[in-house]
Amino acid sequence: MIKRLALAFASLTALLVVSNAPAQFPGMSSSKHYAWSDKSLSPDARADMVIKEMTLDEKIQLLHGPGWGVLMSSAPESGPLTRAISVLGFIPGIPRLGVPDLQMTDSNQGVSMAGTKGRYATALPSDEAMAAAWDPALSYEIGTMIGHEVRALGFNMSLGSGINMIREPRNGRTFEYKGEDPLLAGTLAGQELKAEKALHIITDLKHYAVNDQDAGRIVVNSIISKRAMQESDLLAFQIALRDSDAGAFMCSYNRINGIYACENPYTLTDVLKKQFGFRGFVVSDWGGTQSTVAAAKAGLDMEMPGNDSFGAPLKKAVESGEVPMDRLNDMVHRILRTEFDSGIFDDPPQQDAPDVLKGLEVAQKTEEHGIVLLKNSAGQLPLNAGAIKSIAVIGGHADAGVISGGGSSQVSPAGGNAVPPPPEMARNPLAFFLLPVYHRSVPLKGIEAKAPHAAVKFDPGTDPAAAAALAKSSDVAIVFAVQHESEGMDLKTIALPDKQDALIEAVAAANPHTIVVVESGGAVLMPWIDKVAAIVEAWFPGIRGSEAIANVLFGQVNPSGKLPITFPKSEADLPHPTHIDPPKADATHVVPKLPGAPGPVGMMMGIAPPFDANYDEGLKVGYKWYDAEKKPVLFPFGYGLSYTTYAYSGLKVTPGDSTEVSFTVKNTGKRAGSEIAQVYASLPDSAGEPPNRLVGWTKIDLAPGESKQVTVPVTRERLQIFDEASDSWKLVSGQYTLRVGASSRDLPLHQSVSF
Ligand code: GLC
Repeated sequence: MIKRLALAFASLTALLVVSNAPAQFPGMSSSKHYAWSDKSLSPDARADMVIKEMTLDEKIQLLHGPGWGVLMSSAPESGPLTRAISVLGFIPGIPRLGVPDLQMTDSNQGVSMAGTKGRYATALPSDEAMAAAWDPALSYEIGTMIGHEVRALGFNMSLGSGINMIREPRNGRTFEYKGEDPLLAGTLAGQELKAEKALHIITDLKHYAVNDQDAGRIVVNSIISKRAMQESDLLAFQIALRDSDAGAFMCSYNRINGIYACENPYTLTDVLKKQFGFRGFVVSDWGGTQSTVAAAKAGLDMEMPGNDSFGAPLKKAVESGEVPMDRLNDMVHRILRTEFDSGIFDDPPQQDAPDVLKGLEVAQKTEEHGIVLLKNSAGQLPLNAGAIKSIAVIGGHADAGVISGGGSSQVSPAGGNAVPPPPEMARNPLAFFLLPVYHRSVPLKGIEAKAPHAAVKFDPGTDPAAAAALAKSSDVAIVFAVQHESEGMDLKTIALPDKQDALIEAVAAANPHTIVVVESGGAVLMPWIDKVAAIVEAWFPGIRGSEAIANVLFGQVNPSGKLPITFPKSEADLPHPTHIDPPKADATHVVPKLPGAPGPVGMMMGIAPPFDANYDEGLKVGYKWYDAEKKPVLFPFGYGLSYTTYAYSGLKVTPGDSTEVSFTVKNTGKRAGSEIAQVYASLPDSAGEPPNRLVGWTKIDLAPGESKQVTVPVTRERLQIFDEASDSWKLVSGQYTLRVGASSRDLPLHQSVSF
């Protein structure tokens, strides 16, 4: 399996072929009528009608498919594979029964790799930016935009959205996830996928589950208690499923308590299909299927890519009775009922030009709402364009574009990578992961447009002395600091790479009006924090990053974003100060060293000996850890400044099945703004929980001087703990304290109630 996966990875970027698949899905002749075309029937009834007509081979055919260069090593000359829109993931349908092809695409922050098909897709800001907006309505808008582009590009199955918990801030896929709290991540992903499903595509939640680091992801064993899993990683999936009724779950590469996630009866059947009531299907992560009989019986329904497990071996297992026919029919039923339930049978996508302008609008709105103002001493920001005579713009390739994350979620940069890789790396198939892609939204131009009367000069930041000299001769200095992340690897550290800390120190020493704009996948360390005047976290900014960042810096937008992840003071404060690295791969493990790739691929792609990641911090993920350990942090979960100020008062808690938490927020400043007011709960000591947990929030638009009374409902579910003895959630009786404020560490209002 390891060899196959290594091949798959190596071929991932080399073998994406362009095919002009027909707009209609062949085999789904919209005019032909089948008994199961009757939309008045339930998805389950329609699926059962199709199954009755299927041969064993046709059933097996639906349970696996080519992708990633596996079984599709070049542009196919003939047969169903010619219909594949991309080689990422494709399952041929059954023309005689009108069962459509499954055309799959990644779409975390936009449809990925459209460029390899000669097409365009909107590069949204990263998922942490979406999370920092704390805005379910915006997430629905994002899902609508993604859904339209998925269909316009001819796909009928989307493989986003990732909601793994940020236990490990060095996780290379932090940028693809929605923070450290299950309620926040689950709620936002739920709205995003609800919107996508409304447009008739199959939606997918991933990576299920506890795939909380990417280094060594295919051999790591996540060790975690049931209670911790249920109250953190699994809870995010449960909330997202409840709100979106997603069609698919993608099981992850890792093991969970010793059993691979794609053949784990507890997570796949006991939790997902029984406890959560999931009616859709489980698809493996690409190359994550580990067996035939064990996987099928544990609850895996689809192998991607390839047919090592669910092709001929599954047919043989069914014929021998090792896999009961009932289970095979359940696998097929889940896939077909999802195809009916999602609408891809009745409303297949028509290929079209994506709505570029709508995409730009949503990308800019997401970044403007996701930017977090972390520091603003002496009102350094917003900048007064009329008064500033000279601006130094330094580093971060701000004269070329904005950085984005690597791996399967990469959206092709319109016009090509704004910062092309060095030639020796360009041909490296892993460049796709190892090298940053910059989208051609140019921050320098955005700043120049805002300050047409100022002298705006750029310095690349490679020579701190030169950068400092320019800063010294300028009214203000804006340093862009970038931190690349990618799937398949973790960061060695969350300190900024490439001597950027020294650059910022040098610039700040030369000009007290130094502003730092951080373009990162997640939290970064800031040893220079006391030396700069202002700090803005812009995440991976997306295709309209320049306009959004400039609008915030010059005040057209009042920043309202709040952190979905904690920024620690030091890695020594993390639950695992030393990253849980895969052990050095020994000679018995395939560790291909590709020319030009920094470091052995094994460290990155997990082709190393099996090892344990013991998540003994348990349910204390993120802020819950720092609160329980009473550790100071650089910036707390839920933190974000504004160009105005807010005051909280008048808390009133009305206990009930849904406890009503009412309070007033006043805009005490001179600018209109939006405040994300958060509600946390402290459970009774006997519950054995961390000091606080997020139980609700609301976003309030307020004019200067305006007050609004708001009510946040807190359901009993949100106050329960998972009791392992009874294998169920329960409400512990005792005194609860509801706390309200601007962040997890700024909660001025509180009131106790008993349940
Ligand atoms: C990758 C990723 C997963 C993605 C899939 C298809 O390995 O883990 O997020 O959807 O393969 O590209």
